[in-house]
Amino acid sequence: MVNPEAERGETITFERVAPVYDSTRRMSDEVCIEITREIVVEAGNKAGTLIADVGAGTGRFSIPLAMRGCRIIGVDVSIGMIRVMLSKIRKDWRSRLQPMVADARSLPFRPNSLDVVLCFQIFHLIHEWHSVIADVQRTLVEGGLLAVGESIRKGISAEVNSQYKEIRDKRGYGYRRVGAQDIDEVLSYLRSIRCSAPQQPEKQGWVGHMSINSIIQGLADKIYSGTWNVPDEAHLGIIQELREWANERYNNLEVSREVSAEFKLAFVRFPTTGEHR
Ligand SMILES: C[S@@+](CC[C@H](N)C(=O)[O-])C[C@H]1O[C@@H](n2cnc3c(N)ncnc32)[C@H](O)[C@@H]1O
Repeated sequence: MVNPEAERGETITFERVAPVYDSTRRMSDEVCIEITREIVVEAGNKAGTLIADVGAGTGRFSIPLAMRGCRIIGVDVSIGMIRVMLSKIRKDWRSRLQPMVADARSLPFRPNSLDVVLCFQIFHLIHEWHSVIADVQRTLVEGGLLAVGESIRKGISAEVNSQYKEIRDKRGYGYRRVGAQDIDEVLSYLRSIRCSAPQQPEKQGWVGHMSINSIIQGLADKIYSGTWNVPDEAHLGIIQELREWANERYNNLEVSREVSAEFKLAFVRFPTTGEHR
């Protein structure tokens, strides 16, 4: 499997998709609100809870948490993603959100200084994700909360994406994620180091609407990280074959169809001193 970033031990920044991230990674507002509500409740519903959102992106979770009264440091390695977050900040809660360009592999926080750390959709992008977890443990207060999450495409959008991967792999551009393969691998590792972590994350689903053509266009425009290792010329050939497959399989590629996704969320606590090792 071709995976140059993993071989070089790199991290995958979203700099190249910062301007289109929010419009192409749609997530239901209700689901975002529900997730942030659950985080606040799980963290004990205390005013001024200090949270680091690691790999915060454009602030999709940092912003609703700041609006709920939490103090948030939104950390991302991509300046472009942080710029988008900055553009969304509003004056009534701006004092509670601090965007920060930093690398999750060397978190710039003091030991025992954070109440909550969010790691949403980031461990698959970092080769050394186990050491990020160790650093998160260092920065959390005793009994602090780690929230991990990832969103998964379902239904027709998953079907088109998996066909893209099949063609890509068949043409010799197979891609293994540089970090954790999925949230289950992360949870299993956390349990192995004696964290309290659920066997199964909880799931929040939502539905939206997209045409097959717009799903394929997103792939053609290389907006997803699974397309970034494919050279442009090879990518054009893969997209061409994908369009042919779609034309045979579906009646009308322009018609808007229901697409669904779900967000998997898990709350984790590290063993407290005395319990540990
Ligand atoms: C899939 S996006 C998720 C953004 C946000 N957590 C969300 O769920 O909307 C992953 C983000 O992690 C960032 N990232 C990747 N490697 C990183 C690292 N080593 N340190 C900090 N951020 C990183 C990317 O730049 C990107 O903004």
